Amino acid sequence: MIKQLAKRLKNPCYILEEKKLEDNLKILKYVKDKSNAKILLALKGFAFWSSFKMVAKYLDGITASGYYEARLGLEEFRKYNKNAIISVFSPAFKQKDIKKLTSFSNHIIFNSFNQMYSYKHLLKKNVEIGLRINPMYSEVKPDIYNPCIEGSRLGINPKEFKKALKTYSLENVSGLHFHTHCEQNSDVLKRTLEYVVKYFGNYINQMKWINFGGGHHITRKDYDLKLLIDIIKDFKAEFKDIDVYLEPGEAVGWKCGVLVGEVVDIINNKFNIAIVDLSAATHMPDCLEMPYTPEILDSKIINLNDTDLKLQNLYKYPYRLGSPSCLSGDIIGDYAFKKKLKIGDKIIIQDMIHYTIVKNNTFNGIPLPYLGILKKNGKFKIVKRFNYDDYKRRNG
Ligand SMILES: Cc1ncc(COP(=O)(O)O)c(C=O)c1O
Repeated sequence: MIKQLAKRLKNPCYILEEKKLEDNLKILKYVKDKSNAKILLALKGFAFWSSFKMVAKYLDGITASGYYEARLGLEEFRKYNKNAIISVFSPAFKQKDIKKLTSFSNHIIFNSFNQMYSYKHLLKKNVEIGLRINPMYSEVKPDIYNPCIEGSRLGINPKEFKKALKTYSLENVSGLHFHTHCEQNSDVLKRTLEYVVKYFGNYINQMKWINFGGGHHITRKDYDLKLLIDIIKDFKAEFKDIDVYLEPGEAVGWKCGVLVGEVVDIINNKFNIAIVDLSAATHMPDCLEMPYTPEILDSKIINLNDTDLKLQNLYKYPYRLGSPSCLSGDIIGDYAFKKKLKIGDKIIIQDMIHYTIVKNNTFNGIPLPYLGILKKNGKFKIVKRFNYDDYKRRNG
């Protein structure tokens, strides 16, 4: 189906597969129903709002990193669920944003007692205040994704928390929040909670809710759902039926769509190099940041620098896939294909819906891929076309 669809596309395009998105949402709903936790969509990872009518049927609301994301939640999520929760965390809020956020947010989570006290008089009654804590334990690698590295700015550490309570109080605080996971299974949460309870257990007792953050890879095949559900139930039992929130982004958009592009030229410099109309730097920056090599349909990931490289029978044709940008490291990866690549051949990159569209940029004036949805009924619709004006508007 996707291959047929790809052939028809004239421009690079992300395709969100609605059926796969709904399969993820059903798993998340199952966790909610069994554990009584609330699950919010982290817009930083997945903000494809044309799909929110469906997402809002399954999840309780959104979590935002600031005013823009929160406003998107207000406009495009609460429209389908008037009780949708809008939660916002920022390492540091500006006063002008707090003034706007207070009229429609449910949870505003501060990263310091200082910010909380500076802004608490601006908050309307509907807003519940949260504080982000740093439980000093995270198994995340590499460091760029680890909020508990030494010197981290994310969350109040136990020592600072205790110190702050000599000046401030928890009187107006309804919740605590931590985010220490990235693509992790529930065993990591179990180990993390030991630290959360060790350092902050006394304060949790005074709270209405606790937010376990994102990074729970709930929709991945090997994720231990039962353990997650048990952990939440046990936690609620220990802390007077406290409300537990999870705020995954990646688990919502996990493996529910592709990025389609095409081969523009093929050159040779030691290897065959296919230059495509897609770029790691502009369309899939995590490939360079993390880094990782994305899967491509009908190919196998290889390493052309491997001197012992043996190609398998089916995948005989090796290529390095590079982008049209000036950055020499803007390489998508090395792949062996089943057939020789030709100019115009479609390249279908897998699992390209989370942390891609939200991070896109127009470096080198490379066009932004269109956004399309493959509906459950098999119909395909392009919901957004970008053009030169989008590039121009952002530059001067
Ligand atoms: C505070 C917070 N919540 C939620 C998330 C979503 O995490 P993920 O998309 O890995 O589930 C992130 C990601 O960085 C985060 O920083």
